[in-house]
Amino acid sequence: MKVLLVPAAFAVTIAAQGVVVHEDKHAFVVLDTLSPFRNGSQLFEPTLHVNTTPPYFQVYDDRFLDVLGPNPSIRVIVENDTFAFAHEAPVWIPSTNQIFFNGGKTVGRPVPVGPDVQINNGATLFHGDLLLVTTGNGTLPPSLVRMTPSAPFNDTVLLNNFYGRQFNSLNDAKVHPVSRAIFFTDVSYGFENNFRPRPLLPNQVYRFDVGTGEVRAVADGLVQPNGIAFSPDGATAYVADSAETEGEIGGSDPSLPATVYAFDLMPDTQVFVNRRIFAFIDTGVPDGLALDTEGNLYVGCGDGTQVFSPMGTLLGKIFLGSSSSNMVFAGTNRLVVLADTRVFLAEIAATGANLDF
Ligand SMILES: *[C@@H]1O[C@H](CO)[C@@H](O)[C@H](O)[C@H]1NC(C)=O
Ligand SMILES: *[C@@H]1O[C@H](CO)[C@@H](O)[C@H](O)[C@H]1NC(C)=O
Ligand SMILES: *[C@@H]1O[C@H](CO)[C@@H](O)[C@H](O)[C@H]1NC(C)=O
Ligand SMILES: *[C@@H]1O[C@H](CO)[C@@H](O)[C@H](O)[C@H]1NC(C)=O
Repeated sequence: MKVLLVPAAFAVTIAAQGVVVHEDKHAFVVLDTLSPFRNGSQLFEPTLHVNTTPPYFQVYDDRFLDVLGPNPSIRVIVENDTFAFAHEAPVWIPSTNQIFFNGGKTVGRPVPVGPDVQINNGATLFHGDLLLVTTGNGTLPPSLVRMTPSAPFNDTVLLNNFYGRQFNSLNDAKVHPVSRAIFFTDVSYGFENNFRPRPLLPNQVYRFDVGTGEVRAVADGLVQPNGIAFSPDGATAYVADSAETEGEIGGSDPSLPATVYAFDLMPDTQVFVNRRIFAFIDTGVPDGLALDTEGNLYVGCGDGTQVFSPMGTLLGKIFLGSSSSNMVFAGTNRLVVLADTRVFLAEIAATGANLDF
């Protein structure tokens, strides 16, 4: 995979649309027993014959209208039907108004990455630079790599082991809004997809303090800890467990979690405590996470971006009709959503939190 660079204001290829569909939960809590039920891989469109094709906005709670504002719109800003170029690791660079994400090499401006970047899967902003999260490849270790966002894209490995032991296949990271420590997740998808050795560590969440060099585990007991994010005040951590899917060739087990968990942070150590279910995802698995300034949580899911209130109520969906691994706010009123063969720009009322690192 390569890191791609596409200006947020890239050429518009499809006109913006802003269809908002109100979904009455009472209309589907009881389905006709003869109607076709579904499994978690199939899409859920409660209002049939919506007079549009996706993307559109599904409203499950009226508070979603505050998130959307009076004139929400969504449009494709880059697409390539034959090539999944926009998968993961979106980062918005405020100073240059550019979006980086990972994928292949033919769309956008490919950024040359050095041999330190062995399969990039996650990324976040770190002191104005990119913090790339790599899965490792074969015996080459997973790592956290800092990369400058402009040529020559210098990269520096910040961490590639836990006291000498390689991580499994690092997935994603966020910087804590108060302590500025790096929190990152480790999964075993590299092993399950046959490109990493058998795991040497539990799949867990770590905290890394670049200043002191201290790395410590802060949460375990998760199956595949994936996306991670913090509330705007840094008091609550969210971690997506995407256990239901074992990766592209690993299959899927609907009896395993597809669940976002919330935690409190211990004030002194920032260890994650008081784990509780924040939301079980109805379609696909939760992947990348982001928050707006009101503390609503945006989750990359099997049908697009799902948006939850700080109390875990599903407010609504940016319904794409296809899966989206991740999304990132590009400042005020703009959400960039990756969907493999397409990149969407949603213009809504919400503004991203924790974007100034
Ligand atoms: C869900 O249903 C679809 C359509 O019948 C099927 O193709 C798919 O394999 C099912 N997935 C799971 C995980 O059962
Ligand atoms: C789309 O992807 C295909 C396959 O990689 C490539 O050949 C083609 O040039 C791409 N199209 C555009 C417009 O970049
Ligand atoms: C992983 O390493 C193998 C062996 O060196 C190489 O063939 C493959 O292209 C690498 N995969 C990626 C995605 O970089
Ligand atoms: C990037 O690397 C080049 C060549 O090693 C060096 O001259 C330059 O100072 C580096 N820039 C940054 C921002 O690290």
